[in-house]
Amino acid sequence: MTDTTHPVLLSIDDPSAVDQAVALLDGGQIVAIPTETVYGLAADATNGEAVARVFAAKGRPSFNPLICHVSSLAMAKSFADFDDLSLKLAERFWPGPLTLVLPLSRDHGIHPLVSAGLDTVAVRMPTGLSRHIIERLGRPLAAPSANRSGSISPTSADAVARSLGNAIPLILDGGPCAVGLESTIVKVEDGTVWLLRPGGVAADSIEDVTGGELKTVQSGSAVQAPGQLSSHYAPRAAMRLNAHAVHEGEALLAFGQDRAAGAGKALTVQNLSPDADLVEAAANLFAMMDVLDGSGALTIAVEPVPTGGLGDAINDRLSRAAAPRQTVPVNAVAS
Ligand code: TXA
Ligand code: MG
Repeated sequence: MTDTTHPVLLSIDDPSAVDQAVALLDGGQIVAIPTETVYGLAADATNGEAVARVFAAKGRPSFNPLICHVSSLAMAKSFADFDDLSLKLAERFWPGPLTLVLPLSRDHGIHPLVSAGLDTVAVRMPTGLSRHIIERLGRPLAAPSANRSGSISPTSADAVARSLGNAIPLILDGGPCAVGLESTIVKVEDGTVWLLRPGGVAADSIEDVTGGELKTVQSGSAVQAPGQLSSHYAPRAAMRLNAHAVHEGEALLAFGQDRAAGAGKALTVQNLSPDADLVEAAANLFAMMDVLDGSGALTIAVEPVPTGGLGDAINDRLSRAAAPRQTVPVNAVAS
């Protein structure tokens, strides 16, 4: 039915875009779609073959579970059990960049490949076009970020095309993603709220709703997002964080008004946000890392980015990108 040797890039302004995406998804094919966080590689979460195609296209081992995207709270409740706090969080932040890890309900209908055999499932309601597509399909979409496993999450259709090349039949082009960082992942366990991955919703906004402090997962802890390897989001170039000076031959990822010493030596400069606005910086992060990586520089010097709010998620992604590259163990896989 589809010729996967020629990915089709289709603007979401094309009147047939949603119809084409829904028809492919309904037929068990995979489609890259824009969400407000990053582009997702979507498949019908109830169809095992479709989900397997996602793993194949990403080169991601199937042990790492995927997020199930829903168009309504009712759809989420049809396969996941909500405790009171998770429900409060969903009501406050959905649709939006928050993912909740919840117990799978009985007779859930979600294919086991999606949750990688766990008895929990990660659930998120995205905004805009992606939500509309799910509503039209009438079934949840399993969708990881639409990049090859271990590389930077794509925030444009072009980045998807470069990362996944000819592995997918359709890429919907919705322009750059508004948030530009993956969703925040939390899990409520016996009333304790665990932060499994910082992301598009800042931790303090979540604490405002839960009334208690978010607990951060330590490495080796039982509560983990399996995709949270230290080396992740890896560009080809080495990354040198908190750089106050630029060395010969480096590219520079800048932030704010004050330049690192010797910035004039940089092969290329990208500024995450000249106004030091963390929301703008988050939205620019992956695309700018991608540009600098493509410049051929062997090292990317990164100016300090303040912590707090979205700064925590940005620094998390930067330190993963800077971590020594590791061989990926089979039970904990970069997503
Ligand atoms: O913003 C986002 O979250 C994007 C867009 C497309 O929605 N998706 C995304 O998916 O970042 P992915 O697959 O790249 O990352 C999903 C993360 C992984 O770290 C995975 O291990 C974790 O969610 N995860 C999924 N199911 C889980 C579960 N049941 N328990 C713990 N962690 C889970
Ligand atoms: Mg990912």
